[in-house]
Amino acid sequence: MSYYKILNLEHYFKMYKKSVREPRKFWDKIAEENFTWYQKWEKVFEFNFSEASFKWFVDAKVNITKNCIDRHLARRGDKTAIIFEPNNPDEEALHISYNELYDRVARMANVLREQGIQKGDRVCIYLPMIPELAVATLACARIGAVHSVVFAGFSASAVAARINDCECKMVITSDGSYRGNKSIDLKGIVDEALEKTPCVEKVLVVKRTNTEVTMKDGRDFWLQPLLDAAIPNNVAEVMDAEDPLFILYTSGSTGKPKGMVHTTAGYMVYTAYTFKNVFAYEENDIFWCTADIGWITGHSYILYGPLLNGATTVIFEGVPSYPDFSRFWEVIEKHKITQFYTAPTAIRSLAKESLDYVQRFPLKSLKVIGSVGEPINEEAWHWYNDHVGGKRCPLVDTWWQTETGGIMISPVPFVTPTKPTYASLPLPGIQPVLMDELRNEIEGNQVTGSLCIKFPWPSIARTIWGDHQRYKETYFTAFPGKYFTGDGALRDEVGYYRITGRVDDVIIVSGHNLGTAPIEDAINEHPAIAESAIVGFPHDVKGNALYGFVILKEIGETRNQDNLAIEINQIISNQIGPIAKLDKIQFVSNLPKTRSGKIMRRILRKIAEGDFSNFGDTSTLLNPEIVDEIKNGRV
Ligand code: WTA
Repeated sequence: MSYYKILNLEHYFKMYKKSVREPRKFWDKIAEENFTWYQKWEKVFEFNFSEASFKWFVDAKVNITKNCIDRHLARRGDKTAIIFEPNNPDEEALHISYNELYDRVARMANVLREQGIQKGDRVCIYLPMIPELAVATLACARIGAVHSVVFAGFSASAVAARINDCECKMVITSDGSYRGNKSIDLKGIVDEALEKTPCVEKVLVVKRTNTEVTMKDGRDFWLQPLLDAAIPNNVAEVMDAEDPLFILYTSGSTGKPKGMVHTTAGYMVYTAYTFKNVFAYEENDIFWCTADIGWITGHSYILYGPLLNGATTVIFEGVPSYPDFSRFWEVIEKHKITQFYTAPTAIRSLAKESLDYVQRFPLKSLKVIGSVGEPINEEAWHWYNDHVGGKRCPLVDTWWQTETGGIMISPVPFVTPTKPTYASLPLPGIQPVLMDELRNEIEGNQVTGSLCIKFPWPSIARTIWGDHQRYKETYFTAFPGKYFTGDGALRDEVGYYRITGRVDDVIIVSGHNLGTAPIEDAINEHPAIAESAIVGFPHDVKGNALYGFVILKEIGETRNQDNLAIEINQIISNQIGPIAKLDKIQFVSNLPKTRSGKIMRRILRKIAEGDFSNFGDTSTLLNPEIVDEIKNGRV
């Protein structure tokens, strides 16, 4: 019987039970039958929740790129691995076959080695969504270098912080990037970042926009001539199952970004398995995930998951609104996309526009449509289901996180009946539980609580780079013996899960996780500002937007507050990136604080939402009179 592919609802329940009762047998069989190993494992897994220690396929030897590329060459050498759809629809799309992908990755791997990169070294990749991004990432994995892809929308100081945190030896970037009708000077941003990064020795630069850049002698090299001179063959490095594959930064509710570390074998097995099932992948499908490879969704479901299954995956450089709002639908039609995976914020922004943009296209090639990154509201769910899926394609609302590596809770299309706004049932191997405030597991159905996972799965992040203690504290102390997701959820009468949102100080804006603390730290650097507090409030398109309450140093600061607001957003843009800008800023004389000095964010959240009905218990406030002032000054 097939373990790898879930066939129907009965088979799903059977597999689910097996994965809980006999997890070793379940994962052993999947790993054994679907991958190429240099050496098999001694043990399927070993773990210790209190030490936050997880090992999968212990002592196995493997290379993920051999599984993504080499093993497909005999049967699928001429098959398209990657379709590159450029920002400008007038530029021709590129079809890269598995043979060509091998050639490109092999050359790139050899270039990395020649430029002094060794197994275990960290390489920062700061590139737009062009084929070189995929090639560079895979080339790192090929030679055992740890890739740290940084989304090419981050500012110079955010890039510098990420480079320094894991001490990257090299940066791979491009002269510039195109986004809609704009072009961005990526190399300039890198140059600024590198003023503060002593660890970087070399910079490889891809030519994309042909803009003029400054190249620092001995440090910066154009990539293409090096690739042309490189040998198009490369033997994949033998990696231990638990060798780090990549680092990917995600925002925490406090302090600096967390470099989540994913290792090799478990991540490989789980992303392949989930890709196959959550998207009902079959051999000739053309899969398109619109995320950026700079986020986990791109890592797992543009690159690794699809390539591990020998699929054709799309890399889209552009944005949904350029040249007009039909861009997504036009690309689906053009490449005959079978699975389309995007974020609720994109759906909401397109649903605001004329229906004609989507109705012009029959979209008959589509088989499955997916959503990821934040809760999808009922209206967006129906719009997506009706107008894109034609009420015919199952809509998979997939819940997961950077930390989980792969999709955790999701319908399996053609198997699990979907229900609007519900991520539905856990995939085999995933054991979610809801916890109450007293740390007890909430049994039964029709309940809400904090979402935890009580048993390890292959692609759980192994640590935070350089800070295992923080990893332990963030994920394994609130509910001992379990992984705490930071999300709240409800379980309905049949056991379906609906994710209700973050229960910590992370706010998801347009699908991007933003910690409040780093934004507040950035604002507080402004010389006129004493203190600030950021909260989220509901926004039609972005899901959440940011509201800042700001205390000025000088009471009665005479400078124009509009100018100050612009300066605040400028600082945020410089320190973090434009995605973290505040939609609303209110200057206040003080913030509601408890006697122990903690800001009572619950009250600020209510004010930002415009809900003055009930502020709950305010008896612990040191300065209850401030609440009225803030309420009356709401912007
Ligand atoms: C949220 C993205 C509701 C959630 C893969 C989670 C979701 C955070 C969903 C992780 C969903 C992701 N429904 N909420 N289908 N998917 N989230 O690390 O709050 O960028 O904790 O990973 O996004 O975001 P991250």
